[in-house]
Amino acid sequence: MFLSFASIWVLFSGIHLCLGSSLPKVITQFAPPAVQQSWAAYTPYFSVKPYTPPPRNCRITQVNILQRHGARFPTSGATTGILSAVTKLQSAGLYTNPRLNFLRNYTYTLGKNGDLVPFGAFQSEEAGKVAYERYGRLISQKNLPFVRASSSVRVVNSATNWTSGFSIASNHVFNPELSVVLSESLNDTLDDSMCPNAGSSDPQTDTWTAIYGAPIAARLNSQALGSNLTAADISNLIPLCPFESAAKEETSPFCAIFTADDFAQFEYFGDLDKFYGTGYGQALGPVQGVGYVNELLARLTGTSVNDSTQTNRTLDASPVTFPLDRSVYADFSHDNQMAAIYAALGLFKQPQPLDPTTPSRKRTWVTSHLTPFSARMVTERLQCSARRNQKTGAYVRILVNDALQPLEFCNGDQDGLCTLDAFVESQAFARNNGAGDFEKCFN
Ligand SMILES: *[C@@H]1O[C@H](CO)[C@@H](O)[C@H](O)[C@H]1NC(C)=O
Ligand SMILES: *[C@@H]1O[C@H](CO)[C@@H](O)[C@H](O)[C@H]1NC(C)=O
Ligand SMILES: *[C@@H]1O[C@H](CO)[C@@H](O)[C@H](O)[C@H]1NC(C)=O
Ligand SMILES: *[C@@H]1O[C@H](CO)[C@@H](O)[C@H](O)[C@H]1NC(C)=O
Ligand SMILES: *[C@@H]1O[C@H](CO)[C@@H](O)[C@H](O)[C@H]1NC(C)=O
Ligand SMILES: *[C@@H]1O[C@H](CO)[C@@H](O)[C@H](O)[C@H]1NC(C)=O
Repeated sequence: MFLSFASIWVLFSGIHLCLGSSLPKVITQFAPPAVQQSWAAYTPYFSVKPYTPPPRNCRITQVNILQRHGARFPTSGATTGILSAVTKLQSAGLYTNPRLNFLRNYTYTLGKNGDLVPFGAFQSEEAGKVAYERYGRLISQKNLPFVRASSSVRVVNSATNWTSGFSIASNHVFNPELSVVLSESLNDTLDDSMCPNAGSSDPQTDTWTAIYGAPIAARLNSQALGSNLTAADISNLIPLCPFESAAKEETSPFCAIFTADDFAQFEYFGDLDKFYGTGYGQALGPVQGVGYVNELLARLTGTSVNDSTQTNRTLDASPVTFPLDRSVYADFSHDNQMAAIYAALGLFKQPQPLDPTTPSRKRTWVTSHLTPFSARMVTERLQCSARRNQKTGAYVRILVNDALQPLEFCNGDQDGLCTLDAFVESQAFARNNGAGDFEKCFN
């Protein structure tokens, strides 16, 4: 298994993707897709499905982009766990697996404050170019994209790299700016920092780590004699493969010490983390997405924001900081907040909560598909003329990482379309300000 994996990634690490003649060549593939797309929240952006244009009888009239920051360095908390596990591996007296020999002369050099890596800036800029190519005909000098970001440095940098990409793709004719930065210590619909009573995903991720991590730790301990890795170390070591690969733009040697199966189990760790962190598995998860959903409803319907959760009422009441007359809106955020927003909307609903002891093969809550780096949820408003069983009027569809969502909660049709009225109707949880959940965040 090790050998075949190694020979596959050698093949892939040589690929340079050329996304247009004006662009530098950047490697976006560090491992075979099946492996790289199971790096959970550390998966580099990819289109989950090819983008489908709307049906011919519809034209897009408004676009709302919600995007996660690009690939970043580990956060300070993650760095502590990574360093502890690496130190254990390096303390081994003997490596019986030659793939570990690199550790004899290895120094960990990644940044430790979660800042964007250049590859993450590149993918954010790419997203801006794609947005211009896809939606450029909706804008004009008087109707530029309206852009907001949560205040983390990596989120702000992602937003400005996006606006830069948008501008470059238009040959600098259209130069949108980042207009509003929402402080993460104040009212902020683009961050999950306003619900102190919300629980964490630790009980579920700890359960799964003990199960999947133990055999991997035993295997590595038999290959790095005396390193004494624990199951918990494994959930810190596996991310080194995606982190180092994205930071150095070449495949990290840590990737070769894990199997495709190890990465698939790590993906489930990430799925549990988002599901129980701010998704459906967290009682006070979905309510943290309500503020954004109410802002989205305001834009879609062209009426002022009606929300008493995380919105900044002062900002949202002003046409300067919350205009309602634009065609393209872009908001930059975090993965945990996007998971809360998916759950508030009703996307990726699971028939049963994820089982912390056994991965369900049928789950659609897969973090690498929901919130990879530079993830995006795009809500398009459309004007359709009568066709088949469609009546003339306003419709909505939602794409997550280009995959069209079925919108069963508002009777989405075969094209993923709901009438705007049915969509608004379906968002009763948000319109009711979380039906009492927001108060539970504090009391
Ligand atoms: C160890 O790594 C350093 C820095 O990467 C390099 O300069 C040195 O030649 C390496 N030593 C050996 C023995 O590989
Ligand atoms: C893009 O992000 C990087 C951080 O990685 C930042 O240094 C740079 O200023 C950003 N570029 C633009 C145009 O905002
Ligand atoms: C709302 O936004 C304004 C303008 O940025 C800011 O001065 C104020 O502190 C914010 N208030 C809260 C509670 O977020
Ligand atoms: C690993 O465990 C063994 C046995 O408990 C112990 O003797 C050794 O010192 C440990 N090594 C490290 C690096 O902690
Ligand atoms: C911030 O949110 C809290 C909680 O909903 C609210 O009480 C407060 O009025 C808000 N402040 C502003 C400026 O919107
Ligand atoms: C705002 O929402 C509340 C709660 O759903 C509702 O009672 C009220 O009528 C709404 N106000 C407006 C102006 O729509």
